[in-house]
Amino acid sequence: MSPSSHPSPLALKGGTHALCTCGLSKNGPFCDGSHQGSGQAPRILKLDTDQTVFLCNCGASANKPFCDGSHQRQSA
Ligand code: FES
Repeated sequence: MSPSSHPSPLALKGGTHALCTCGLSKNGPFCDGSHQGSGQAPRILKLDTDQTVFLCNCGASANKPFCDGSHQRQSA
């Protein structure tokens, strides 16, 4: 398994965040509106408190943009 298949931690402040699910954003993991016309939409994440979330880097998660542990099954 390459290091890039491991999930990336992302520290977020409490509040509302729009995370890119289309892969077209030029603003890292955050939606920048580039999905317009793609039929996809950002994942809206509402956090009550500051938290660290883990983003999928392997492409196999069924819960994108979040890691669901699928990268572990790929290396088995
Ligand atoms: Fe990717 Fe908005 S730019 S979901």
